[in-house]
Amino acid sequence: MLFVTRNRGKLLEAQQIIGNVKNSTITVPEIQSDSLTEIAAESAKYAYEELREPCFVEDSGLFVHDLKGFPGPYSHYAYDTIGLKGILKLMEDRANRGAEFRSVIGYANATEVKTFIGRVYGTITDAPHGDGGFGYDPIFIPLKSAKTFAEDLEQKNKLSHRAISMKALKTHLGYS
Ligand code: IMP
Repeated sequence: MLFVTRNRGKLLEAQQIIGNVKNSTITVPEIQSDSLTEIAAESAKYAYEELREPCFVEDSGLFVHDLKGFPGPYSHYAYDTIGLKGILKLMEDRANRGAEFRSVIGYANATEVKTFIGRVYGTITDAPHGDGGFGYDPIFIPLKSAKTFAEDLEQKNKLSHRAISMKALKTHLGYS
């Protein structure tokens, strides 16, 4: 199965969760939308038209509840600009530190375009912890845990937003 992404962290996780995953790094223009599902479906359709091979893309983001869902669909851009420091600054002195990661996979072949969603709830830390994973992993602790995703990648690959969406894709494809 072909995963169209330039994000090495996402690719490694897909390989661990699904197994046999190859990588394509073609450029897929991203439509402007507040809906991760719409973005993923359109990107998958585009990638299939280019590659003519069954393939999937993944769109994800961190949604911080007290920031009205920011950075959400702008997670990549926010990470590259204000970074972890900027998000922690916005969270300074906030009691409600609830957040969620969402992952939407868009899968396309000759006959269908499908989306698969995964979510994980947790909290934003006061400072970064751990150096595993990528992106916002050092500042996110999933519910019922004491460790950030960056501190415990095994935990991440079991219960993350991406683990959930990728397992749904795997089931759809009939992979064991
Ligand atoms: P995109 O899906 O490539 O637009 O990027 C989403 C952005 O959200 C990534 O660049 C990361 O900054 C962030 N993100 C998505 N998934 C994760 C994750 O599993 N851990 C940490 N950050 C993530």
